[in-house]
Amino acid sequence: MSNQRSGVFIAFEGGDGAGKSTQAARLAAALESRGYTVLRTREPGGTPVGEKLRSLVLDHGNGDIDAHTEALIFAASRAAHATQVIRPALGRGEIVLTDRYIDSSVAYQGAGRDLGQDAVRSLNEWATSGLQPHLTVLLDVDPQLGRTRRTAGQAAEDRLESEADEFHTRIRDAFLGLAARRPAAYLVLPAHLPIDDLAGRILDRVGSLLDAPPAEAQDAAPHPAAAHDGGAL
Ligand code: TYD
Repeated sequence: MSNQRSGVFIAFEGGDGAGKSTQAARLAAALESRGYTVLRTREPGGTPVGEKLRSLVLDHGNGDIDAHTEALIFAASRAAHATQVIRPALGRGEIVLTDRYIDSSVAYQGAGRDLGQDAVRSLNEWATSGLQPHLTVLLDVDPQLGRTRRTAGQAAEDRLESEADEFHTRIRDAFLGLAARRPAAYLVLPAHLPIDDLAGRILDRVGSLLDAPPAEAQDAAPHPAAAHDGGAL
């Protein structure tokens, strides 16, 4: 991998229990050991206001939250995250690894809550002024495996996690559909593979991205529906 020359934005996506946080941590450690400056962050959250929105939308006990309100809370958290955290880090030339981004809203609220994927994407492109990842790592998890993993330590499930398997199957299909539409911008991996195997494959792909000429990294950024923005670089 060559010297860091400009910011690179990588999102980890997938269903609950896919192992995104573990893989983001592994990638961050591998990149840092090669001298890169890495910012790890997550959604919902990543800023003080975002963390408050996270509790609001995920904790049980805040009363009914209808699907539109839910989508707007996630989008509000993301707007703060893009403006206050991600763009500044990219401007400093850092590698930003986020645990979830726009695709999570498209999958969970657009498909899972049936608000419509295009509507939810538009809302989020507006919220982020079209900021798109250069690469999305999609860890594809079978919903039942995901549930087994996340309840293994008797951790309580949040509002979204506790939805039925059928909800999580719609989300899985939506994620795979997003990746199929833009294969060059995605790395799709089966989440049941051994952790080391996944980490190696992700590092290989990210290494190619970092070694690519800037134009290639930039080409990966804009989503067809976000052509007004030149991406993160
Ligand atoms: P996550 O932080 O991955 O869960 P945890 O850290 O508890 O494993 O995500 C929290 C939940 O929020 C998860 O069920 C997915 C959901 N979510 C959405 O529904 N829409 C979104 O836009 C985002 C970012 C998350």
